[in-house]
Amino acid sequence: MGELTTKFIRYQPKENHPDWELLFLEAKELASDIAGNIPPKHALQGSLLEKRKIKVINKTLKNFRINKQKMSRQDHNFMPLFYIWTMTNNCNFNCSYCSDHRGNIYPDLYKQGLKKNLSTREGKKLIEIMKESSAIYYCGGEPTLRKDLPDLLEHSTSFDMFNMINTNGSIICDLLLKPGYRLFLHQMDVIIVSLDSLDLNKLAQIYQVNRKTAEKTLRNIITLSILRNHVPFKLVANTVINSDNIEDTFDILDWCNDLGITFSPVSANLGNQPDWELIKNNDYRRLVSLIIERAEQGYPMIASRKALERLLRGTGFYCFPVVFDHIDHDGCLYWPCKAYKKATKVNVLHYGSATEVHRAAGDLVDPTYFHGNDPHQCQGQCAWMQNCVTDMYVRGLTQGILMSGLIKEIRGLLK
Ligand SMILES: C[S@@+](CC[C@H](N)C(=O)[O-])C[C@H]1O[C@@H](n2cnc3c(N)ncnc32)[C@H](O)[C@@H]1O
Repeated sequence: MGELTTKFIRYQPKENHPDWELLFLEAKELASDIAGNIPPKHALQGSLLEKRKIKVINKTLKNFRINKQKMSRQDHNFMPLFYIWTMTNNCNFNCSYCSDHRGNIYPDLYKQGLKKNLSTREGKKLIEIMKESSAIYYCGGEPTLRKDLPDLLEHSTSFDMFNMINTNGSIICDLLLKPGYRLFLHQMDVIIVSLDSLDLNKLAQIYQVNRKTAEKTLRNIITLSILRNHVPFKLVANTVINSDNIEDTFDILDWCNDLGITFSPVSANLGNQPDWELIKNNDYRRLVSLIIERAEQGYPMIASRKALERLLRGTGFYCFPVVFDHIDHDGCLYWPCKAYKKATKVNVLHYGSATEVHRAAGDLVDPTYFHGNDPHQCQGQCAWMQNCVTDMYVRGLTQGILMSGLIKEIRGLLK
């Protein structure tokens, strides 16, 4: 199955890159085994006419109207568009650039004892409380390490959530062979896999794993890519760019463009700042220009040309932190944002709905114009995609949904 071939157009294999013939062969066999475990797609699946997607769009529009009124009253305590759930700090990788937005490395937090995650029952309750939001972003640590992931996904699907996951991809195909994962690809709308080099030695070094595991991760991305012929989900490769992998990112861009994998670049953030030295680097700037050129040419990218430009140059956007929620492994929401050193933690499980959570949190700290360098503001300039999303969303609230380009961004993600 699958038309994927190793006849690359843009991408040129280099020393220490995998033997693609062999890896594609393995991936094809694995994809075929996994496909045997998955029911076929139903008629409207993958289109905007799919029932759950229509419900997501309706919910998004309803919240958009609520938030527009809030914006006109200068009340920035929005109904969250989506929430990121750090399901666990635990991770089987130890990425050199890893950041929890607060200067910590996830697996270190786990080793330091922050391992009391929500139980499955509590996780389901969290999903129920947050159901007014449009989308859930399963994250970690490594979310695939949680045994109850398919159960929780089933639950968020039953509440008509748009489901996304960010994973290192190392065990995803082993899991997809299991009976419990039969519906996973049907329910997970967007799968974002980290990919920071195609040089296996370097990849292993960045992730601090052995070469075999690094290669398996690549094989799994190819397998997922093939499986898109069987079930329509969006596959995204996320590259964290730092001074050591700029040239590697050129290769990843070409490779993703050849395979039709959506490319999601981000410059490595250091705490609550982008790496300003990197952003000034000439090679990095050359890379950013090429990424933008490819976006203009229509290659699949995580966001529009304009949004990518703002994100990768770290300028031209204003963050409205509570457009999305960052919920920690213990069920607490960081308020008004996770990167804020003095953030308050609010236990979501103590409330009945996202509205109630935001009301209680807003009584503690007013999130209105929270981004900035004044003493009462966040003091950060985070340049992650979610920060850019908040800017695009609020442009939509003030300039109108069409003028702001928001529709285009949302459609890109839903398609
Ligand atoms: C913390 S990871 C957790 C999910 C999963 N374990 C993974 O590797 O993708 C979530 C995302 O944050 C990105 N990330 C981690 N540290 C970062 C940093 N310092 N700057 C920008 N992105 C970063 C990762 O590449 C990944 O796409």
